[in-house]
Amino acid sequence: MTSRGRVEDHYTSEGITARVLTALRAVNGPDVPITPETLAPIDHFHGRGSIATKELAEVLQPEASDHLLDIGCGIGGPARWIAAKYGCRVTGVDLTAEFCVAARELNGLTGLADRVRILHGSALSLPVPDKSFDRAYSQAALMNVSDKCGVFRETFRALRPGGLLALSLAGAGTAGEPHYPLPWATTTAISFLATPEEVQGDLLAAGFQIVFVRDTSAALAEALAPVLKQLETEGLPPLGEHIVTGENAKEWRINAMRSTAEGRLSMIEALARKPA
Ligand SMILES: C[S@@+](CC[C@H](N)C(=O)[O-])C[C@H]1O[C@@H](n2cnc3c(N)ncnc32)[C@H](O)[C@@H]1O
Repeated sequence: MTSRGRVEDHYTSEGITARVLTALRAVNGPDVPITPETLAPIDHFHGRGSIATKELAEVLQPEASDHLLDIGCGIGGPARWIAAKYGCRVTGVDLTAEFCVAARELNGLTGLADRVRILHGSALSLPVPDKSFDRAYSQAALMNVSDKCGVFRETFRALRPGGLLALSLAGAGTAGEPHYPLPWATTTAISFLATPEEVQGDLLAAGFQIVFVRDTSAALAEALAPVLKQLETEGLPPLGEHIVTGENAKEWRINAMRSTAEGRLSMIEALARKPA
């Protein structure tokens, strides 16, 4: 199987939207409105959920007239949340066909289908025209891609001159290999962890100017310490990304948090600009 096939295999499951709605109604009642806010505990696939999406969006500062590109958009939680909050348009691209199906269904249910568009495709060959986006972001997706420079070259092509790219991804730590299985990969076969320096080098090689590249793992480990304790003692909460990814999410999340706390994973945030 190709790396692309293995990645899609890792994330694929059927009937995602039905599972999401069943869980949401079981917890919040049959009449719960289906909005980016009510979906948020389930549809942001990364450690700190919608809090991390909010922070990424604050770095990117989208304007209502902007068209954003979300690279590795998952089932579209961050894209819907940002489109609803900032009034902008977002196009999400994702490799996993079942995630694209669920994302489109949830766009329809939240009334955001006219502003959030989902395309099935690879970050290494983005199915979008040149210079068609004002801003781009990728959150918790590039750990599955070995050729990060290839993704940055494609993003550079898709952005207009002066356009911004914000990144948030787990990276290599300094204390050895992380504990597997992890949320993005059960083995090293589809986990490609770079250092902040390597990400910076790849951004520069693709033509970007660096606004900042930083390692926020110390702050992340501190923020996640109570979450880790709660997960270990009480188990998964009623609503979480496990509604989509399955009960294995408990072990995956514990491993990610332990690996971060032990310096086996870094958390890389970056902002880069395509020269005007
Ligand atoms: C951990 S999920 C994060 C999803 C979303 N960014 C979020 O934060 O909710 C990683 C996503 O990256 C996607 N992905 C991985 N490699 C990709 C690639 N080469 N091109 C496009 N999407 C990719 C996966 O299909 C998956 O949906």
